[in-house]
Amino acid sequence: MIISFEGIDGCGKSTQIALLTDELKRHNKKAVVLREPGGNNISEKIRELLLDNKNSSMRSETELLLYIASRTQLVRDEIRKMLEDNFIVILDRFADSTTAYQGYGRGLDLEIIGQLNHFATDMGKYMPDITFFLDIPVETAFSRMMSRGEEINRMESSDKDFFERVRNGFIIISENEPERVFRMDAIQSKEKVFEQLKKILKSRNII
Ligand code: TYD
Repeated sequence: MIISFEGIDGCGKSTQIALLTDELKRHNKKAVVLREPGGNNISEKIRELLLDNKNSSMRSETELLLYIASRTQLVRDEIRKMLEDNFIVILDRFADSTTAYQGYGRGLDLEIIGQLNHFATDMGKYMPDITFFLDIPVETAFSRMMSRGEEINRMESSDKDFFERVRNGFIIISENEPERVFRMDAIQSKEKVFEQLKKILKSRNII
């Protein structure tokens, strides 16, 4: 079972992932959280390249291939093994982020991205069973990012129009795949969002 979390930066993924991990533990289920880009040594190195503000001259095409490279490694090194050991794999971002950020955000060819994601996920074998898209307006995302008090990374320093396109991309993905991708109104309190999330997991007999 693979559960992924998606949304623009500042949408509250980390909070929901922490709540879900606790809930699964309460149900005595084995769960592991992996973040993208990252999740193992090689992918964490790729992450550094991608998020480093010094790399402002990085081409969109290079960016795309690095996200795909990171995913390719994570799928084969971690996700596959964890599933074999019957873990529920919780992913903090996955293939849909590439479609939304590099496809809709950067304007790269969606068909090529689809093919690359297919390749990275071992011909689609390791695509998520359920995806929670935590949706918030771009304005809210920006104010949350600013109030975090952390340094803004290369991706986060993109402008509002970029994030509008990314958000719109996630909305289109959720409309195209309603069986897998659940769009959650993440402007609500974290408790309310989590209640809804639990309902969906219960209806699928996951908890
Ligand atoms: P991160 O600090 O993990 O952001 P967040 O906490 O919001 O998840 O940085 C990951 C950044 O990489 C984030 O801005 C989204 C971006 N990203 C892509 O552009 N494409 C991708 O395929 C993935 C996985 C992430």
